[in-house]
Amino acid sequence: MAVYTLKALELKDKNVLLRLDLDLPENQDGFDTTRLEAGAQTLNFILKRGAAKVHVIGHRGRPDGKVVKKLSLKPITDLLIEMIPENKRERVTFGDNLRFDPGEEGNSKAFAKKLAKGFDFYVNDGFATAHREHASMVQLPLILPTVMGRTFEKEIKTFQKVYRKPDRPVTLILGGGKSDKAEYLKTMFDFVNVFVVGGKLAAEMDKEEAEKEHRKLIVCEVTEDGLDITKDAYERAERFIKASGTVIWNGPMGKYEDGEHGKGTEYIADTLSRTKTFSIIGGGDTEAAVDHFEVDKSKYSHVSTGGGAMMEFFANGGTLPAYEAIVEGQQKFSWEDFLEFIL
Ligand code: 3PG
Repeated sequence: MAVYTLKALELKDKNVLLRLDLDLPENQDGFDTTRLEAGAQTLNFILKRGAAKVHVIGHRGRPDGKVVKKLSLKPITDLLIEMIPENKRERVTFGDNLRFDPGEEGNSKAFAKKLAKGFDFYVNDGFATAHREHASMVQLPLILPTVMGRTFEKEIKTFQKVYRKPDRPVTLILGGGKSDKAEYLKTMFDFVNVFVVGGKLAAEMDKEEAEKEHRKLIVCEVTEDGLDITKDAYERAERFIKASGTVIWNGPMGKYEDGEHGKGTEYIADTLSRTKTFSIIGGGDTEAAVDHFEVDKSKYSHVSTGGGAMMEFFANGGTLPAYEAIVEGQQKFSWEDFLEFIL
């Protein structure tokens, strides 16, 4: 089934509602603007194609349906406006944090209808949130003619290709500070050939017991303080990386940010950037770690803007709720009225 794309739309003089990933990772140096730069490309594309008005929406953090001043989108949209040519800025407006309204996370149709009012098209470029069944992800595409934004489209296309015909063996390197990631050892079992686990997850596991129970699992040995993986462990992980056709990496191997427990993470980041293996990295923390060690990100085959969304795609049978909603929504409209090019 054909999925209509942003490139094919007649946008001249149209009012466009654009969802971006504005939930930027933040550290002592300020915001990591990778997601914003990706979003700016889509916004600039829409403006260049002659849209009369583009209203940008997004979320930040988890304000839980209430207005939380420090989670306002203002500082982020102030950065975004700088990424647009000056003569086009007056065509752009911004909404504040969608999650200030309980209707967003509550997946309210009425809230989505309110958002849709006055617009001709909806462009969803919020890939990092595509695994959430929230109003802007799964309701809006059923109300307005909707296409994926450029980042969303690129991510989905890459992941679909990998999921449908992966270069095997597929190794998943799973780290980070969230122990709830353990569920991926079950939900990604059919797709992944080898799981290499580091980070907090490895520190909390009984290595021998876990490896006995799960035949695809390699638990990295951790340092005495449990905050990094050992040299033996990262050298062993390297052998798996080199023997794999595809490696997906999500989550640092230790508490690299304290300046003392970064050896495992740096080694993995560096090794993965040097192999011929098809390499995918995803997740704000993983990307921040790679930046921290100044590894050249262009050396990875794909750097995803979404960690949770990337993992859920593979765990969820190769799709995501927001993508399904776009495909379903497109059936409702007569696209001949909207298309600029004959597909
Ligand atoms: C992210 O940062 O991964 C996305 O913005 C999703 O955020 P959430 O986990 O709060 O839904």
